[in-house]
Amino acid sequence: IRTGRCVVAVDGPSGSGKSTVSRRLASGIDARYLDTGAMYRAITWAVLRSGVDPADAESVAKVAGEVELRIGTDPQGYGVTVDGTAVDKDIRGPEVTGAVSAVSAVPAVRALLVQRQREMIANAGRIVVEGRDIGSVVAPDADLKVYLTASESARAKRRSTEDAADVAATAADLARRDRLDSTRTADPLRQADDAVVLDTTELGIDEVVARLRDLLTERGAR
Ligand code: DC
Repeated sequence: IRTGRCVVAVDGPSGSGKSTVSRRLASGIDARYLDTGAMYRAITWAVLRSGVDPADAESVAKVAGEVELRIGTDPQGYGVTVDGTAVDKDIRGPEVTGAVSAVSAVPAVRALLVQRQREMIANAGRIVVEGRDIGSVVAPDADLKVYLTASESARAKRRSTEDAADVAATAADLARRDRLDSTRTADPLRQADDAVVLDTTELGIDEVVARLRDLLTERGAR
């Protein structure tokens, strides 16, 4: 079991392969895994539960400050709870997905979650963290920063069922979220200057993970 400090930041748009790649990489290098998107989704779930309008930044910030959010860091399976309620399934549903960009654009929500994320990274020491602003904001001193991309059609296919109408609807929704996530003022989706960019359109998951492990070895950080 390897134990040295090693922080890997994995950023990119939805459907770029972040989650699968990050979990597999974490398991392979004996590291923890943090899904920061799940944290924004959990706060969004709490906002919807409380009946607050996701566009009402002040009320959203208030809900975020009051809820107790817990998330595990086991790459083989982590639980997310809000005030003790397991929300793992609900946070992947269409209601949360439709509102998460608005909630994650609220600066007070980001400040709160970024602080939590930094604490979790410091405690874990060895961790793969995925999100949108990990290399640029949350962990600027990460040992390795990766920015995953893929063509829009590849991303839509990964996120939908085989059905052609669903692929089209998913593509439209991804484009909408990408636009909101990259144009918001607070910590938008951004490629860190020193990130390694990998286009996963034609690459298999195993190839991407192998490439990242090689990079870690080259840097003596594994
Ligand atoms: O990775 P995901 O699709 O589960 O992320 C859900 C949303 O959360 C995404 O649309 C943007 C937001 N997000 C963010 O703003 N910053 C992060 N570090 C991670 C996710």
